[in-house]
Amino acid sequence: MTSYAEFHRRSLQDREGFWAEQAALIDWQQPFTQVCDNSRPPFTRWFVGGTTNLCHNAVDRHVAARGAQNALIFVSTETNQERVYSYAELHAEVQRMAAALLELGVKKGDRVLVYMPMIPEAAFAMLACTRIGALHSVVFGGFASVSLASRIDDAEPTLIVSADAGSRGGKVMPYKPLLDEAIQLSRHKPAKVLMVDRGLAPFTRVAGRDEDYAPLREKHLHAQVPCEWVEATHPSYTLYTSGTTGKPKGVQRDTGGYAVALAASMKHIFLGNPGETYFSTSDIGWVVGHSYIVYGPLIYGMATIMYEGLPIRPDAAIWWSLVEKYKVTSMFSAPTAVRVLKKQDPAALKKHDLSSLRALFLAGEPLDEPTAKWIAESLGRPIIDNYWQTETGWPILALCNGVEKAASKFGSPGKAVFGYDVKLFDENTGAELTGANQKGVVAIEGPLPPGCMQTVWRDDERFVKTYWNSIPGRSVYTTFDWGIRDEDGYFFILGRTDDVINVAGHRLGTREIEESISSHANVAEVAVVGVADPLKGQVAMAFAVLKDPGKAATPEMALKLEGEIMKVVDEQLGAVARPARVRFVSVLPKTRSGKLLRRAIQAVCEGRDPGDLTTIEDPSALQQVKDLVAG
Ligand code: PRX
Repeated sequence: MTSYAEFHRRSLQDREGFWAEQAALIDWQQPFTQVCDNSRPPFTRWFVGGTTNLCHNAVDRHVAARGAQNALIFVSTETNQERVYSYAELHAEVQRMAAALLELGVKKGDRVLVYMPMIPEAAFAMLACTRIGALHSVVFGGFASVSLASRIDDAEPTLIVSADAGSRGGKVMPYKPLLDEAIQLSRHKPAKVLMVDRGLAPFTRVAGRDEDYAPLREKHLHAQVPCEWVEATHPSYTLYTSGTTGKPKGVQRDTGGYAVALAASMKHIFLGNPGETYFSTSDIGWVVGHSYIVYGPLIYGMATIMYEGLPIRPDAAIWWSLVEKYKVTSMFSAPTAVRVLKKQDPAALKKHDLSSLRALFLAGEPLDEPTAKWIAESLGRPIIDNYWQTETGWPILALCNGVEKAASKFGSPGKAVFGYDVKLFDENTGAELTGANQKGVVAIEGPLPPGCMQTVWRDDERFVKTYWNSIPGRSVYTTFDWGIRDEDGYFFILGRTDDVINVAGHRLGTREIEESISSHANVAEVAVVGVADPLKGQVAMAFAVLKDPGKAATPEMALKLEGEIMKVVDEQLGAVARPARVRFVSVLPKTRSGKLLRRAIQAVCEGRDPGDLTTIEDPSALQQVKDLVAG
């Protein structure tokens, strides 16, 4: 058995040989002629000359040997449905959806925006897109009209796939009105909207634009739509994520590199085997859903569970009952979900036979030690933290126990994953920090491994400027996270260097929330910061300066205005982005040159020392924040 150190070393030093071997984990139509073309960094091209197809690798190639095997297991505790699709059935469903997309005019290279709850048709739509060479752009169902409109304008989809409604905690959440409003707000108008009607919420149809999926599916019941063989470098999808500026970035992913990276991760990190069952509790609207609900497990010939519902409804044993029922071998969730479970009766975790489970993988936000210990003890199964980003598509830091078993360290997502040359740099000088336990910006020396973002959709310049030019004197990919590495090569992640916050594992840009709050007629200026929260990891806190402070003159008036502002955010961005509190101040803490002192506000909110304040314009501004937080 190779040691992991050797495995990782080879992935960097013999990049071509290493990745050529991993590439054998997937099917190629035409073999590639070059493993890695990095002649125009940072625009690395993987598996040049090869042709393949994501949907073929996720579905078709398994049909012959595993046609009757479970592929997609759909469980909804919202609508009390449970439906298992075999690989043969999944193959048929994806072709029906693909035929519908083709009939409605979708062509190779077109974008299809998917705004869907967690239902099988969402996965069919994604797979149907990659099948025909169209790019999907999934927008999280919890986002509202303004968030959706900005993504429609950037992706310029030919068609949008949506549904009448989602459901959360038994409450129906209509999607169609939000979608109609978003299309009204957007400059770009999709030619077609394909509606999956779950019968949860009646909706109106725009003649000539909106089509119902059910009759189209019926019409194409026996459709045979071949996979479109595309270049390994053909973009498979875009997925929007938040950064420092208000405008979300469209992370663009390739085809061949992504398929290879996912397959390799299933084997070496997630301990999967073909024929077994994988359960990721994420949502298809996030990167974890793309990589580890849909593509990763299916590419590896596993069954994947798609779960619509809360982790504690009907009770806190629901997930564990699925683990037992479907003999889940690998499970993937987020620390927030575990903290929610922690508040429930721990007996719920003991009710079911979890012996099939090799490990529970957690990612998306820092895993605090009490939570890690609690879940490890309650489950009696290994807990494996891993760290990555929408941009990378698969883990940057993890324990690759499939290569060599390594001990976990509490608070650490592990070591650099194969293919990643992870380094730490001083934010101000750009000096590389090679010693143990030095705090720096976590960065990756290029080329990025297969599977990572190719560029920002239609904005190469932004890709270079944002990610590759932010550490002085260096052309390295920055993660925008602080971190340290200990003497054994284990990393510890210490929070973002930018204005991104992480609320219950959801990545949000504070600038986007500020823009939304500013649209309220009475708001002159606002600062939003992320503040530590015992349950959600972080919550957004807003401090606003009012045009007419008289409207918040009494505590009752302030509370009413706060509610109004929260409603604006709910309606524009979605409840996920709603700040926990909106407080009113007469002036915001700024430097003399007018820059908002967000880190100082955040520190004060968390009861920490705000640090160096020599450049502050008006010290009473921070005092107001302090008083509000104390009161
Ligand atoms: O700040 C890091 C945090 O989440 C960010 C990426 O979020 P997103 O693009 O939504 O991708 C999530 C993919 C799992 C990172 O920049 N983050 C992610 N995983 C961890 C983490 N922070 C600490 N520990 C982790 N394991």
